[in-house]
Amino acid sequence: MFSLDRPLPETRLFHDYVASLPRLDGRTVAITGCTSGTGKVLAATCANLGARVVLLNRASERARKVESELVSAGGDVHGVACDLQSFAGVRAAGAELRERFDAIDVLVNNAGVMAIDDLATEDGCDVQMQTNHLSHFLLTSEVWPLLTAAADARGEARIVNHSSAARLGAPLKPRYLGKHGGDLGGDGWPGLDRWRRYRQSKLANLLFTYALHEHIVAEQPAYADKIKVLCAHPGPADSGLQGKTPSRRWLDRYILWRTLKAAQSVEDGTLGICRAACAPEVTSTDFYGPTREARTGEAVRLPPERDPEGESALWDESLKTTGITAYFGL
Ligand SMILES: NC(=O)c1ccc[n+]([C@@H]2O[C@H](COP(=O)([O-])OP(=O)(O)OC[C@H]3O[C@@H](n4cnc5c(N)ncnc54)[C@H](OP(=O)(O)O)[C@@H]3O)[C@@H](O)[C@H]2O)c1
Repeated sequence: MFSLDRPLPETRLFHDYVASLPRLDGRTVAITGCTSGTGKVLAATCANLGARVVLLNRASERARKVESELVSAGGDVHGVACDLQSFAGVRAAGAELRERFDAIDVLVNNAGVMAIDDLATEDGCDVQMQTNHLSHFLLTSEVWPLLTAAADARGEARIVNHSSAARLGAPLKPRYLGKHGGDLGGDGWPGLDRWRRYRQSKLANLLFTYALHEHIVAEQPAYADKIKVLCAHPGPADSGLQGKTPSRRWLDRYILWRTLKAAQSVEDGTLGICRAACAPEVTSTDFYGPTREARTGEAVRLPPERDPEGESALWDESLKTTGITAYFGL
């Protein structure tokens, strides 16, 4: 497991930011990937602000532990198993959510894996693309009726996607979204292809934000002003993600070392998704995170990074690969 031998970075901004937020009583916030990192910080924060919080984790001892920790701390917290490496698992999670809950005010598509091997999931997709984007694309469609129920009841619902600075550098290549798991470059030379697959999946998170907004406006106009699609990126954050990334090659170790050298605390890395999920005033397609120059720190509203061709290719390929015939259940 890759780590740096030094104290964890200090949290500088997060606690003051959270103190400025309004209460979330009466709202339900569902978050993927809450066993650690930014998802766990956001889950605890929303629970402390009075929200009902739904933890969407794949079943594990880690998932049970975090649920019982948050419940013991007094949170209105519920676990629903959701394995993002399986479309059947995501559909089952969607059915359970619709069965157990009347509405979801905020869906946070946070979970992710980074720079892992070129492997196919049971659905034939790249592990990184399916976990980080395709399953979130499917999950959002599965919970659409719960988002509209929240928007009808309280005037607003939100979908928050979690991207990365790694989104930058190359346009979207539709092949990465198809059923080509295990045939997307292996390690490549000099070992960069696992990182390329991660970058594509994190670009997909941002382009999905824009594409979903456009499809809501065109196909669900009654919700165009009420259901907001937002994105954030954390900057490098010492969350534990880096320790789960294989570091067999010198290049992997160099990238992980550089990331952790520059990393802020996991709480400060949560500022972006926290703003998108909890701040009172947001506009659909807002993208929050540290600027390219700062790399870490305040989650500011960033300039749009639109790519109409990429957005349209992402939507079509994601529909095809997940097998969704009517995204909004029409
Ligand atoms: N940390 C950074 O420097 C950084 C930088 C840029 C972007 N990000 C993004 O931030 C997000 C959160 O990452 P993090 O840094 O908080 O990492 P983390 O601590 O490793 O958390 C990742 C979460 O995703 C979950 N997950 C992984 N595979 C899953 C699956 N198949 N089904 C359901 N959940 C799964 C993990 O659960 P398990 O315990 O079950 O594995 C864990 O709860 C990711 O989207 C990542 O790409 C992080």
